[in-house]
Amino acid sequence: MRLRPAIPSDLFLLRYWDTKPHIIASSGKDEQEDWETELARQPDGREWLIAEVSNHPIGIVQIIDPARDEDHYWGEIEPRLRAIDIWIGEEKYLGRGYGTQMMHFALDKCFANKTVKAVLIGPLVSNINAHRFYKRLGFYFIERRIFGNDDCLVFRLERATWNNKKALIN
Ligand SMILES: CC(C)(COP(=O)(O)OP(=O)(O)OC[C@H]1O[C@@H](n2cnc3c(N)ncnc32)[C@H](O)[C@@H]1OP(=O)(O)O)[C@@H](O)C(=O)NCCC(=O)NCCS
Repeated sequence: MRLRPAIPSDLFLLRYWDTKPHIIASSGKDEQEDWETELARQPDGREWLIAEVSNHPIGIVQIIDPARDEDHYWGEIEPRLRAIDIWIGEEKYLGRGYGTQMMHFALDKCFANKTVKAVLIGPLVSNINAHRFYKRLGFYFIERRIFGNDDCLVFRLERATWNNKKALIN
């Protein structure tokens, strides 16, 4: 598996993934991403990475700096954090360990910046599979919070927890 930056030619794939029932169920009621606009620019503090398995795109990860993100999705928030969003677009690639691998890449990328102290994630309250998935990676529950029209749980992963987890794996 590798992660590469999303590019304008990913547009139709990303729009297609947005129509999938498992993506709709995890996305909430807020407006879907305007991919055409999003892929054409590289805003400060936000990146989109496509996961590929044998050169075949299977999913996407968004990494933002929540304090700098221009959409202010996370509101007033302390600096030196990152926030991740992730989804696997193709159903046949679910539950095969690829999401875990994507998170490992994304978390390593976040913590490669030595100033980053923790990573946040905000799945819907209803997305219990994702809660289990994040807890297994070392995230812990912080709070229940409404983002826009969506009822979410916020989880956080500390740098030290991730370092310990990596030490156990290696
Ligand atoms: C959340 C998501 C990214 C997880 O990715 P995934 O590839 O399905 O996750 P993994 O396969 O790494 O782990 C999930 C399950 O598969 C199991 N698994 C891990 N490696 C496996 C492997 N090699 N073979 C089979 N199963 C495996 C895990 O034990 C886990 O089991 P669980 O059902 O007890 O939780 C994915 O389910 C997804 O895209 N969901 C829809 C969008 C979404 O909810 N995104 C999160 C929004 S906050």
